[in-house]
Amino acid sequence: MEIKNSQTLVITGASWGDEGKGKIVDLLASEAEIVVRFQGGNNAGHTVVVEGKKYKFHLLPSGAIQNKIIVIGNGLVVDPKVLFEELDMLKKEGFKPNLKISETAHIIFPFHNLIDGLEEGKKGDYAAGTTMRGIGPTYCDKMSRFGIRVYDLLDEKIFRTKFEKIFELKRKMYKTLVNSDKDWDLDKEEIFKQYLEYGNKLKQYVINTAYYLNQAIDEGKKILFEGAQGALLGIDHGMYPYGTSSVTWSGGVCAGSGVGPTRINKLIGVIKAYTSRVGGGPLPTELHGDIGHKIREQGHEYGTTTGRPRRVGWIDLFNLKYSIMINHYDSLAITLLDKLAGIDPIKLCIGYNYNGQSLKTWPIQSEIIEKCIPEYIEMPGWEPLPSEEWSRIAKEGYNSLPDKAKDYIDKIEEILGIESVIISIGPDRSDTIIRKSIW
Ligand code: IMP
Repeated sequence: MEIKNSQTLVITGASWGDEGKGKIVDLLASEAEIVVRFQGGNNAGHTVVVEGKKYKFHLLPSGAIQNKIIVIGNGLVVDPKVLFEELDMLKKEGFKPNLKISETAHIIFPFHNLIDGLEEGKKGDYAAGTTMRGIGPTYCDKMSRFGIRVYDLLDEKIFRTKFEKIFELKRKMYKTLVNSDKDWDLDKEEIFKQYLEYGNKLKQYVINTAYYLNQAIDEGKKILFEGAQGALLGIDHGMYPYGTSSVTWSGGVCAGSGVGPTRINKLIGVIKAYTSRVGGGPLPTELHGDIGHKIREQGHEYGTTTGRPRRVGWIDLFNLKYSIMINHYDSLAITLLDKLAGIDPIKLCIGYNYNGQSLKTWPIQSEIIEKCIPEYIEMPGWEPLPSEEWSRIAKEGYNSLPDKAKDYIDKIEEILGIESVIISIGPDRSDTIIRKSIW
């Protein structure tokens, strides 16, 4: 493969989120000057392990623990309380977060969280199983142009006018959702005062991040764009309505940061060696029995944000093919390969059968996917190894991987038609095989 040097690198999850992006971003951030988030909010959960110590983030870019310049782009919805908690945590740990936050990112209020839960309750089987962080309702207000942006918090008069409107609207909505005239126990003045205070504290970080990032590119600075969730969980190309409300695929970088498509140099998609998913919706390759249990325990598949056990299944190369088509990645990072050790045979889903016929394309409609039967091929698994062995393999490089694990990777690459450049075989930064130079 021709190696292209890049100045802007995008890393997104190719499937349902939780692909282990945090670690990959952290790894590649060492060469960047700026790390940017461009969508989502504190529904995300990135875990980064450095020298055995775990750092968990929900809102700030993972690059924060490398003391990079971190940017919260316009495409995010921001809960200021969480933002300050994460900043405080970092400072306590001795980091010096250098944060820039977009003046046009949208603000999450307590009524958004409340309504998130109530709306979910109304959806029955169509509930996505949200993280209850108010993400959907805040994006909803953004789109209907009732939303409050970061810059609104910086001007008491403007904030007052907009806040009055949204508070009253949401109060009515609450009463409709609970089907009662009983008022909620949110105190309007208390929230107003609290958010004005947040505005005051935020001021020092607020800029027009589109100008900032474009100028940084002009100056030759290296920028890493860090996706949250995954392409198949996104509002446009995900399995609707069982996904999140932001633009999670790589195209979201442009909308959520103000950097044009021709300024993006390289795209890396992160996939897991198996499938996992939290929340509702069909998952054709889901494993319910002992194998599922084993993978969940080996992979510690419990949500970083909600602690919920994740649903796990065999790798779904059929939906990944769709994801790889829309994202048009340059290459892949494959994570958690070590966690499949001891599973033999391993199945790989290569297609779906619907109504007795093999489908040619991934059927994005959830009602169809629900009725699909996965078509599998099988491959032999590899023996479990102690973690020191995986660390040794990471040091020695790709060729030291068990042969069967290499065969598995080869098959994934062959079916998806894309090469993998990073293989992650343990939680620590050092437990990683980098097959080619990335930047
Ligand atoms: P929301 O983003 O909280 O609205 O949740 C919508 C759906 O996306 C639910 O199924 C969540 O479980 C899922 N979700 C949201 N954020 C993440 C994430 O970071 N990883 C995996 N799933 C997520």
